[in-house]
Amino acid sequence: MNSDSNKKAHAVLRQSSLPPPQQPKTHSSVNRTDNTTDTPLSSLEKISEFWAEKAESLLDWSEKWSTTMAGDVANFDVRWFEGGRLNVAYNCLDRNLVNGRRNKAALIWQGDKDEDSRVYTYQMLFREVCRFANVLKKRGIRRGDRVVIYMPMIPEFAIAMLACARIGATHSVVFAGFSAKSLQDRIQDCEAKLLVTADNIVRTGRVLPLKDNVDKALGHCPSISGCIVVRRVGMDVGMLDGRDYWYHLEMQSADISDDCEPEVMEANDPLFILYTSGSTGSPKGVVHSTGGYLLYALYTCRKVFDLNDDDIHWCTADLGWITGHSYLLYGPLGLGATSLMFEGTPSYPGPDRYWQIVEKYRVSIIYTAPTVIRALMRYGTEPVDIHDLSSLRLLGSVGEPISPEVWHWYHGVVGRGSIPLIDTWWQTETGGIMIAPLHDETRLKPGSVVKPLPGIDAVVLNEDGEEVSQGERGRLVIRNPWPGLFIGIFMDRECHASHKLNVFKGGYDTGDGACCDEDGYFWITGRGDDVINVSGHRLGTAEIEAALGSHPAVAEAAVVGVFHPIKGQAVYAYIRLQENFSETEALFAELCNHVRLQIGPIATPDMLQCVSGLPKTRSGKLMRRVLKKIAADDFDNFGDTSALANPSIIDTLIASKKALSAE
Ligand code: WT7
Repeated sequence: MNSDSNKKAHAVLRQSSLPPPQQPKTHSSVNRTDNTTDTPLSSLEKISEFWAEKAESLLDWSEKWSTTMAGDVANFDVRWFEGGRLNVAYNCLDRNLVNGRRNKAALIWQGDKDEDSRVYTYQMLFREVCRFANVLKKRGIRRGDRVVIYMPMIPEFAIAMLACARIGATHSVVFAGFSAKSLQDRIQDCEAKLLVTADNIVRTGRVLPLKDNVDKALGHCPSISGCIVVRRVGMDVGMLDGRDYWYHLEMQSADISDDCEPEVMEANDPLFILYTSGSTGSPKGVVHSTGGYLLYALYTCRKVFDLNDDDIHWCTADLGWITGHSYLLYGPLGLGATSLMFEGTPSYPGPDRYWQIVEKYRVSIIYTAPTVIRALMRYGTEPVDIHDLSSLRLLGSVGEPISPEVWHWYHGVVGRGSIPLIDTWWQTETGGIMIAPLHDETRLKPGSVVKPLPGIDAVVLNEDGEEVSQGERGRLVIRNPWPGLFIGIFMDRECHASHKLNVFKGGYDTGDGACCDEDGYFWITGRGDDVINVSGHRLGTAEIEAALGSHPAVAEAAVVGVFHPIKGQAVYAYIRLQENFSETEALFAELCNHVRLQIGPIATPDMLQCVSGLPKTRSGKLMRRVLKKIAADDFDNFGDTSALANPSIIDTLIASKKALSAE
């Protein structure tokens, strides 16, 4: 175990034993007035009134709903705005053609290279979306069909999503960093009819393959009848006759018109499916609705960012994640704002790339993830200081806890200490931001997500379902229904089938731990389940274990998250090898590569430890907390381990970990 990659892993491990930063005692206040307080809505009737009023004022409906909140409300199986009809693309585009925004920039695209940029006004974007919607129809896509989108961050990505929404097809975006196998699994799960992709990805000045992955996946996807390929780079890629079509040729075709009537959808028709990791071995297809989801994206954009006409809103997330769906696309366009989309990475061509973009476009709101800030902090303040960031009025953070140290850097260096930093807590399932300071919050505390938004009743409960006392940790539970909550998990070939939500003591169980301080401010303490968060990306340990377990050399694998200074958490894998395999560098490299191919680069283990056995209870359940402590070099106080079938395994694991760290 002397290879470079293992040395790197050890370096990470050494850093991982640093204590996490302490929460500061002082409060940072922001120079704003009007501290909005949010009293939870006291009854179902009030909740219903509250959201009905928002739905009237924020959305255009072609038919008004008959019941605001129907269904099994106690079990969170709610149908919002039943009887209501609308179209999402209409709300994001058409209505902005007649309210004075026709010639306003809807989407500003900045490519990897600074010279590559494009601007779409609402009129231009509308035309592209209508044309592509007609292309989809021409290729056989109808209302209710599933279309998978696997794209780099180029404007056609947004156009494809909106075109699906226009004709009532359900899109399922697969992040372009996922492997061919992951793409294949998702296409198969939702039985998609069509795939929209690109020839290649451009990143940090290099060209990376994308269509190659598609070809590997599509060989095993009988439901797919067509694949539309955007020419991003123009290099030769294989095109299969009768299946693959070039986007630009399809769009130029004489039979494609500029007109496409929006399909009138029911409020509870699915808008999209997005796969996310849970505690099982395979990702679940979270389904979001047309009316409730869109309303919640718009409502939160207004409430949290106060998004207005003269804003340039930059959400740095990839459209492959829910953050991109809600805060790059649907929220900002639904409000008629200007959204910036960036193809590149934070430190190419230099570590000032983000700040150069803020200056170039006079960005007013930047919404990014702590992992990005941590990576950029390493370059010091100079890359920030050389740019004029005076256009910024709000900083946003999402995806993982932001430590006070990182908070202060972002707030002090990027925000010059004078604009609010809004840390937003939410999940793929919640559709939009749930707990965050409002844009005009006067009192922020570094590391706290402040309070639930008006309309959201979040509480911290103990295992008996009682509210914990101040400062005590517990489960974060949402007590009331809200329109952004997902409508189901896609399964049995039905979008609306099997609505299995985590309901805990009458509330929606978020799976996160939290505590509340003396001011009722929320502090998120991390996941309570077996989901880890690597650079703001959610990964199920069970998925990585399944990937490792599918390699012939592996008898058994157990994966835990371990502290990592940039990524937040890193993937730490314990491996028990099959009898006839031995621990070699080549095998370790092969196992890492195997995970890349099965899931994608984000899931690659940072550290592998070979073991002779794993700590299990007599009933065969893995005692994961023991593995977490050992991975973190924390060898004391294992708590009650009397249930272990093989208690001596702990000492064996510690010894092998110490030997590994000493190498
Ligand atoms: C999980 C959801 C929210 C969209 C992007 C990720 C963690 C998210 C925060 C935050 C602490 C956070 C939670 C949550 N998380 N935001 N501000 N502070 N933790 O969506 O992939 O569904 O992940 O990310 O653990 O459950 P996701």
